[in-house]
Amino acid sequence: MIVSPFARRAYVASTQFDHTSILRLIEWRWDLDPLTVRDAAANNIAEELDFNPKGKKCKGADGLIEEGKEVMDEFEEDTLDAGLIGAAQKVEHYEIAAYGTVAAYAGILGFTDDQNTLHAILDEEKNTDRTLTDLAEKLVNKDAVRAA
Ligand SMILES: [Fe+2]
Repeated sequence: MIVSPFARRAYVASTQFDHTSILRLIEWRWDLDPLTVRDAAANNIAEELDFNPKGKKCKGADGLIEEGKEVMDEFEEDTLDAGLIGAAQKVEHYEIAAYGTVAAYAGILGFTDDQNTLHAILDEEKNTDRTLTDLAEKLVNKDAVRAA
């Protein structure tokens, strides 16, 4: 079941989608290489939505990508690693906000299964953020301070 303002009304598709279909959409939308074999094989959920995602840019994501590029231009080696972790954490926080919001909407609409799936994705995003924090605090930030 698709919960989206872009879902087609009274439309039934027989194509199977799961949360990796959203990754597939993101990769397709921004011409990114697949992160995993699983999402490379996933069906692109954009095929079942009533909009042209190539025609609308996400200003928030574009801004985060631009900030990441600036980090790559301004820092080197150990300080670059610390800067990239910071940039990646901004992306994770953006994803946490987005998945948290959509999970809440799914709950309000009574789509419990979808809400559970979105909470599982939200937990993955939070775990990634914690992993990045651990990496920064235990290793990369100290190297960056020594290099600065
Ligand atoms: Fe993420």
